[in-house]
Amino acid sequence: MTVGIDKIAFFTSPYYIETADLAKARGVDPNKYLIGIGQKRQSVIPPTQDTVTLAANAAVKVLTQEDRDTIDMVILGTETGIDNSKAGAIYIQELLGITQAARAFEIKQACYGATAGVQMAVEHVTLHPHSKVLVIASDIARYGLKTAGEVTQGGGAVAMLISSDPEILILGGQSAFHSENIMDFWRPLYRREALVDGHYSTDVYIDFFNKTWQQYQQATGQSLSDFSAFVFHLPFTKMGLKALRSVVSTSEHADRLLHEFDFSTQYGEIVGNLYTGSLYLSLLSLLANSDQLHIGDRIGLFSYGSGAQGEFYSGQLATGFKRQLLKTSVEDVLTNRQQLTIPEYEQLYSTDISLHAGDVDFDTQKDESRFLLAGRHGGQLKYVDSSLKRG
Ligand code: CAA
Repeated sequence: MTVGIDKIAFFTSPYYIETADLAKARGVDPNKYLIGIGQKRQSVIPPTQDTVTLAANAAVKVLTQEDRDTIDMVILGTETGIDNSKAGAIYIQELLGITQAARAFEIKQACYGATAGVQMAVEHVTLHPHSKVLVIASDIARYGLKTAGEVTQGGGAVAMLISSDPEILILGGQSAFHSENIMDFWRPLYRREALVDGHYSTDVYIDFFNKTWQQYQQATGQSLSDFSAFVFHLPFTKMGLKALRSVVSTSEHADRLLHEFDFSTQYGEIVGNLYTGSLYLSLLSLLANSDQLHIGDRIGLFSYGSGAQGEFYSGQLATGFKRQLLKTSVEDVLTNRQQLTIPEYEQLYSTDISLHAGDVDFDTQKDESRFLLAGRHGGQLKYVDSSLKRG
């Protein structure tokens, strides 16, 4: 029996900005954002979408009724949760109609949370082969208007169904991890926007990648020649490129691995940082866009969560990965987005309810997504399934 990712789906907001427009508004040369940072567009999250709705809108694309009846664990990886106590996974479970005979909970460790969820899910299904686990990575990346991190914002969710005999990626092999108490990026309880020591964070990311890659090679005896591609957590696409270059620069495999890396950044560069979902959007981007991959190929995954936790692991492509309509499914979401001007983005950015008490109702007519945040009454968030109303 094999265990791994059987289904994968992505969702982001229906709005975006061009980073070239943002650069002009901030008095920066657009090439700094387009080339120096490596980001072309950035999703802008309206008040009608939050971590829960983004997650449910991703997962609903792939779940069958049989999945809903069989899933016995729903894990939400997020660092931008919707409550200081209650897990977003409980709302997601209900919105998706997943059986109540399931565990539903949330994991937080910055951008690493979903990787912990994936590893837990793989171990669970290995012990219980008839189980299915829904792992969803969902976040909204916010640094604040006119900050250095503003160009690296974004948001969205990637949902993965972990099962036995998976169609997409076989997991369960060796992992290498490293954790260390450092202050490169964090978000105190009183803040909605992250605090970050930006340049330090990029150095630590590369250091953790090198450490875990070395450990992994020592433990497995594998080397660059065993890998068809590497996918990275991409806070911005240049970050992954710098990390990859740090290990391939003098290698005969450099051209091949850098070429495949480009496929893994195609979606991230027009969505922005998804925090914990970002690594899995890179995987989706690689699988949907590369034409050089074959069944059995080994893909390396580097997960990084500031604060900090790094993990390098790998998977092998399963027999059905080409049968999945990954490209159509992602591009349906991305081509139907509406471009915002910078003043429109700034206005949406300021309509955030998370740190302010009081009742609020949102205009749900403008957002055509299936699951919506309608508002908050008496401190309770109100989610709606718009298909029930429209249907
Ligand atoms: N044309 C082309 N390139 C240009 C340029 C131009 N006109 N002007 C500048 N550049 C290049 C610079 O040379 C530089 O390239 P290199 O890094 O290859 O040298 C690049 O653009 C960025 O320039 P700066 O370093 O001057 O940019 P900055 O000071 O404004 O900050 C940043 C960049 C630190 C990434 C900032 O955006 C930031 O703080 N982002 C948030 C933190 C982050 O994403 N950290 C990543 C690791 S932490 C993590 O992974 C967890 C997470 O998700 C947050």
